Amino acid sequence: MLLMLLATLFQTEAVAQSDEPIAQVIERGLQRATSQSLLLAQSLQDKQNALPRTFENGKVQTVRYDHWVSGFFPGLLWMLYENNGDEQFRRFAELYTDRVEPAKKLTNTHDLGFMLYCSFGQGYRLTANRHYLDVISEGTQSLLTRWNPKLGVIRSWDFGKQWQYPVIIDNMMNLEMLCFMTHQTSDRRYMKVAETHAQTTIRNHFREDYSTYHVVSYDTISGRPHAKNTAQGYADGSAWARGQAWGLYGYTMMYRETHNRRYLKQARRIASFLLNHPRLPADGVPYWDYDAPDIPNAKRDASAAAIMASALIELSQLDKSKMAAKWMALAQKQLRTLSSPEYLAEEGEQGGFVLKHSVGHMPEKHEVDVPLTYADYYYVEALMRLKSAYGLRLTAYGL
Ligand code: GLY
Repeated sequence: MLLMLLATLFQTEAVAQSDEPIAQVIERGLQRATSQSLLLAQSLQDKQNALPRTFENGKVQTVRYDHWVSGFFPGLLWMLYENNGDEQFRRFAELYTDRVEPAKKLTNTHDLGFMLYCSFGQGYRLTANRHYLDVISEGTQSLLTRWNPKLGVIRSWDFGKQWQYPVIIDNMMNLEMLCFMTHQTSDRRYMKVAETHAQTTIRNHFREDYSTYHVVSYDTISGRPHAKNTAQGYADGSAWARGQAWGLYGYTMMYRETHNRRYLKQARRIASFLLNHPRLPADGVPYWDYDAPDIPNAKRDASAAAIMASALIELSQLDKSKMAAKWMALAQKQLRTLSSPEYLAEEGEQGGFVLKHSVGHMPEKHEVDVPLTYADYYYVEALMRLKSAYGLRLTAYGL
């Protein structure tokens, strides 16, 4: 009898959670992100050059400007400033954005879009600070040093002896900065590079089911792929969850930027693969790899869910077909799950990170089941996109 009563109570709790109005989920998530991020910003303000990466062994772990995740925390602070209009957030956003600036000179990585566009790009969008535009412009020139017109791709990594010219699906995310530069300068060269990279990637990265390889390496003589592998997934032929999310986000973004329907088609195909995947859990948060051998006991990756939710909300706004409602429904399910106690950190928990349970690099057993700064960034971006899709007032600007 007691067991039955408890079961009924738990069911009521579950229903109550799924019945929470979505506007309330959004506000609750943004409020928690706000208080957590303030804590984190305060804790690192006097630690020179430090930018947060994760929380492990009871401590906030940091990186410098030259790590691929350096731009996410400043970008998160800018989005929260946009939401709350609080000058304290603007000051912290400026402080942490400045820490990323030396990245504009890096030519040994493709991650400049992540580093500079998520930080300086968000800052420029909200303040029109001319210096931020100059930093993005210089960073874009650095990124273009990695462009190979013969292969039609931007090189991702300079390591890995087995690869002649490695390109990872994540690289789709760096194209937004190139599109932005064309819009700013009317110079079509940037957009052309972005479009060519996106089209080469459609040709070579995707399998028949529209899942994507993580790494494709090009033969620099023939121009054709000579290797298709994984680095962070379970196997070369598996569907690494974050990689699928980068692809979905990348092609949705490219459709927004270019109105080229080829990208819309690609985004829809990726979204359908994920939405209909038999191993996507009912709560919408993927396992770290859709082909992990220990499913259903495999670790979940909150970062993949957050990136996917943000992309699906945008896709639902751009796609005028009847599929739009499905994209939106899945995104909302994911955000409800991420905003539940299972994933959303308690006030003051985890050094100020927002989401729990992400996976950075499972094959290297690095950052397994931890908070990650980019999970927080895309979670907040998704909440902001949803808020805007519903026409809910953005506090700071009364939009
Ligand atoms: N760009 C690296 C990652 O997604 O882990």
